[in-house]
Amino acid sequence: MPLVTTKEMFEKAYAGGYAIGAFNVNNMEIIQGITEAAQLEKSPVILQVSAGARKYAKHIYLTKLVEAAIADTDLPIALHLDHGENFEVCKSCIDGGFSSVMIDGSKYSFEENIAITKQVVEYAHARGVVVEGELGKLAGIEDDVNVSDADAMFTNPAEVEEFVTRTGVDSLAIAIGTSHGAYKFKPGQKPQLRFDILEEVGKRLPNFPIVLHGSSSVPQEFVKMVNQYGGAMPDAIGIPEEMLREASKMAVCKINIDSDLRLCMTGAIRKHLNDHPDHFDPRQYLKDGRDELRAMVQHKIRNVLGSSNTL
Ligand code: G3H
Ligand code: 13P
Ligand code: ZN
Repeated sequence: MPLVTTKEMFEKAYAGGYAIGAFNVNNMEIIQGITEAAQLEKSPVILQVSAGARKYAKHIYLTKLVEAAIADTDLPIALHLDHGENFEVCKSCIDGGFSSVMIDGSKYSFEENIAITKQVVEYAHARGVVVEGELGKLAGIEDDVNVSDADAMFTNPAEVEEFVTRTGVDSLAIAIGTSHGAYKFKPGQKPQLRFDILEEVGKRLPNFPIVLHGSSSVPQEFVKMVNQYGGAMPDAIGIPEEMLREASKMAVCKINIDSDLRLCMTGAIRKHLNDHPDHFDPRQYLKDGRDELRAMVQHKIRNVLGSSNTL
């Protein structure tokens, strides 16, 4: 099976009240852990690659590894550029075999965001590639962009129809209170999402797939594991899983998860090296990292996203 776009998976997800997991990939063990989990759960999956991932692993290694994962699992897999920051990066991924790209114009004005997004859509659609745009700013750290809590700007539902119509995007990332990284809320703060905004966006864009970035739940078992075995993470708080489940039943069809992968893999590797101080073969500790990651992704697919058995 070749790479697929997100078109069919989103149509089925919207109708079925579930979401597809979009997991960030940076190396072979992460790709294997995610795709093996999706295979066990009989779920489609989106593998997404950031600019940092391309710099770390090189575009060619990531595309070849994803090609191998498709041959190995026979799953519908979409390969997506995460947070494409300009036309050139999107073009390079479209030309380089991705089936989906995000153009992140959220740091620009409304009109500038429309212009850059439209440019990417025209190039992508002519080549059978789908495009995700973003309206509204997430708090937290996105690649090189630092958006402070104070500047965080929820998506304005009054703008979404015009943005989607004028750009032709296939899906839209919105800001409703999620943020990137492991420190989404301050200690003592109650996690909250603006479900009212999501509902209003859903009404204005019927049957249109909405994307949530910054959707790691930061499971405390992994924070504890990291800290128990030599780590020093301050209190880290993520998006409660029940809220993501709720959003999946609404218009949200794609949920982005990266920090949870990092946390669980690091926790498992720290534990392995603590339990086996004599080990120095990377295969031994990377295997534990991959196993823990696979189990975590299986849990997300089954209990949070709800996309099990939807092939
Ligand atoms: O939203 C950002 C993703 O978590 C990717 O992070 O740029 O460190 O690869 P990265
Ligand atoms: P997290 O940092 O919450 O995992 O979000 C990842 C993300 O949105 C990637 O685009
Ligand atoms: Zn993101």
